[in-house]
This record gives sequence, structure tokens and C-alpha cells, in this order.
Amino acid sequence: MLYDKLIFELSSPSRVGHDLKHETNNLCKLPANLLRDNLDLPEVTEPDVVRHYTNVSMKNFGVDTGFYPLGSCTMKYNPKINDQMASLSGFSGLHPLTPNSASQGALQILHETDSMLAEITGMAKFSLAPFAGAQGELTGLMIIKQYHTVQGDLKRTKIIVPDSAHGTNPASASVAGYEVIEVKSNLDGTVNIESLKELMSDEVAGIMLTNPNTLGIFEKDILKIREIVHGQGGLLYYDGANLNALLGHAKPGHMGFDIVHLNVHKTFSTPHGGGGPGAGPVGVTKALIEYLPGPIVVKDNDAFVFYTPKHSIGRIGTFYGNFSVIVRTNSYIKTLGKNNLENVGNYAVLNANYIKESLKDDYLLPIETVCMHEVVFDGLKDKSTGVKTLDVAKRLLDYGVHPPTIYFPMLFHESLMVEPVETESKETLDHFISIMRQIALEARENPEIVKSAPHTTVVGRLDEVLAARQPRLKFKDN
Ligand SMILES: Cc1ncc(COP(=O)(O)O)c(C=O)c1O
Repeated sequence: MLYDKLIFELSSPSRVGHDLKHETNNLCKLPANLLRDNLDLPEVTEPDVVRHYTNVSMKNFGVDTGFYPLGSCTMKYNPKINDQMASLSGFSGLHPLTPNSASQGALQILHETDSMLAEITGMAKFSLAPFAGAQGELTGLMIIKQYHTVQGDLKRTKIIVPDSAHGTNPASASVAGYEVIEVKSNLDGTVNIESLKELMSDEVAGIMLTNPNTLGIFEKDILKIREIVHGQGGLLYYDGANLNALLGHAKPGHMGFDIVHLNVHKTFSTPHGGGGPGAGPVGVTKALIEYLPGPIVVKDNDAFVFYTPKHSIGRIGTFYGNFSVIVRTNSYIKTLGKNNLENVGNYAVLNANYIKESLKDDYLLPIETVCMHEVVFDGLKDKSTGVKTLDVAKRLLDYGVHPPTIYFPMLFHESLMVEPVETESKETLDHFISIMRQIALEARENPEIVKSAPHTTVVGRLDEVLAARQPRLKFKDN
């Protein structure tokens, strides 16, 4: 199609969109030595530009265009009211250096969101500053380090992380200067208690856990784990990226966790496909409030003011975090209300189990017990066709569905991790199930069509290794 071409290919000498010469001459007086007349820019008309970019934008895939069951990423529909709230000029136009007296409304949003997250998780206080889940992890680990340092307990150099953990967990522990010790998982991804007992010592600063874990299974021995870790002076860190499943039902604070991070861009809905924007607020128990990054918002009589905790790890980013994501979080929680938050967990779990039961005849199900918010298959059940998980994922694109997460968690060779989330209807789930069954049938009857997929997308199957090693990032090589 004409407008699928690169914008440079549409170029034709002396075509212009809008002639800004007159205005720029007046507005923008660049020094003569910075001006160039030999810039290799496309010469195109305004309709060329509009049509080109509109067509390109329609090739994108997002939760607003179709089903997006990307396991672990919680790609739920983002209610537009949240975006409207974040766009209110009083929020979007507020300068971060505005004095407290003139930004009480924004500070109230921060304070309120902190309190709501504290109630949801059973923690005492949150810092809303981290910009992502991974930065929340790093913040939490720095708090752990600071805590032990203030206690004069300097020999704790290790952090325990399960082998099923999200990759950011060991990475964050390492960036925080800890030696990462891997604890083995049982077949269902839960922590092996005997291995944990062997690893735990007075050199361990803490353990990082995800509950439900990355296989979508609830860590039922969490109270035993707490006893083992606390018993030897370590702290429990909760990776709350999977909190969606527990909303309104269980609180990490009640499970014995000392520090929690939440991926509010997942659980509380923010358009986060493609890597942003996000926020990873960190909550702590009462004993750790004085270690939070500063400043945090507290109430002083009727006014909201900033406070820097006594043993604070310091600032972990500019200003007060990703404020517009926090406004969306606030709006999402309030529009749902307490009772409907509970339904988020209910429907997320119900939907995942519906998919699990509906696909287990065609896809290998290594863990058959009731799952939480996501289900992990180990590829197709019939391995004789040679069709791999990657092929199934590519074929789904031909049917207009975003593939689930593949090859993670790494506990199985052909992991295919489906997280349908609570916002999808039964019709959408049934549509997905029928496509997955159809692909299983194709794998048996015509495996080549699956192995060579996708066939209907703008770009066919890429050589991913070559693309990673020798990326072509420029239109022209010179
Ligand atoms: C279990 C888990 N932990 C941590 C993260 C990291 O979060 P972020 O991508 O916001 O850094 C993710 C991201 O999906 C995750 O699934």
C-alpha cells in the first residue's frame, strides 16, 4: 500500500506540508553556524504525512484493539476515565516545584493513594516515587540494606530468590550489591521449604517472593517461610506484580511481608504496553517507615506536607514519581470501590481457570491444580508434530490475537503463559479458546502452516537472533 512505505520513500523534490518559513523567521533565531540547508529530510505534503502515520498507527496492537493475554504483564483494559482524570489541567499542568500551599490537591491525591494502597496490602505506609516495578524492587532492597546497616548487622550480604522468579528480582538484588542465592522450587513453582532451611543463615538479608508465583500458584507455605526467614533476622520482600489475583481477598502484610512493591501500571490499569509509563510504589510495615525514600507526603493538621524519613535511603528519582500514573491508580480504585476490587481478583482467577480447563486436552498442563490469575502450559500436548510454542504464538497473530508470554517461566521447555485478566468477556475467552484449538488441529493436520506463521501480518517471521545482533536502525546505512 502506498502509505505503508517509509516516509522517505514518499518524498518528492520541493513538496511541502506547511510553510513555516515566515513564522520561524520571527520566532526562532538560530545562530547562523547552526543552520544547515543540506538536511536529508523527506519532502512530503501534509496529507502524505497524515495518511502515512495514521496507517502505521493502525498496524499497532494494543488492549484497545484486541485480546492481549500476555502472562505476567496483566494487560487489562484501561478505563478512559482514568486518562481523563490524569489529563485534568490542574494535574497535567502542575509544575513539580509548585509550593505545597498551591498544590494541596495534588498532595492529597498522593496521600490518599498511599493510604488506599496501604489498606489493600496491609502495609503501614507507601512511597510512590519508584517509576517501575524493577525500580520498586531496587528501592525495597536498598531499604533492607539500610535497615540492617542501622541495626549494626553488617554481615548480611545475601538475598534469596526462587528459581521461578521474574528476572528483575535477581537483577535488582545484584544492583543493590547483594549476592543472589537461588532457592529451588517444587514442581508447582512454590518454594521448597527444605532447601530454604538449608540456605537461610545470619548472612542472609532477606528473601524476595512473588505470590501468586510466576506459575500462577499461591504460595501456601508462606507462614512457614516467614517463620524461617524472620527466625534468623532476615526480611521478607513481596514482589506485588501479581497482586491482581489477590485484590480484596488477601493482604501481603498479613502474610508476614515487611516490604512490598506494586506494579500499579498493571494491577490498577495504566496503558503500559511497550514499556511505559509505569510506577512501582513501595510499601513497608510500621517498623520500616523511617527508611522509605524521601520525601513522602504526611498530614500536618489540615495540610499535606512533605516529610523526609529519619533513616531514609534518599531520593530514588526526580520529584515525586510518575504522578499521572498515580492519578490513574487513584481514579481506578475509587471508581471500582471496595466491593468491586474484590471482583477483580474473582474474575481474574475464574477466567484463567476457564482457559486452563478448556485447553488442557490440546495443550500440556504440567500443573493441574487450581491456578490463580494465570495459567502456564508446556506447549502443545502432541509433541510429535514438531510445532513449538514459538510457532503457536506466531500463528495467533494471523488470527488477530496477541500471543501469550512464551518461554517464561523457565521451569518448562515450552512455557506458554496465558493471563486473560478480569476485564474480558466470556465471548472473548471462547473466541481465544476456539483459535487455540484450531491451531492445535492445524499442528496435527498441516504443521507447516503453523511453523511458517505469521502469514497475514505486515512483517513475516523475523530472524530474531540476526535482528538482535545486527539491528538496522537507520533508513540509510551511511
Ligand atoms: C513478577 C514481576 N516482577 C517484576 C516485574 C517488573 O516490573 P516492571 O516491568 O514495571 O519493571 C514484572 C513485570 O512484568 C513482573 O511480572
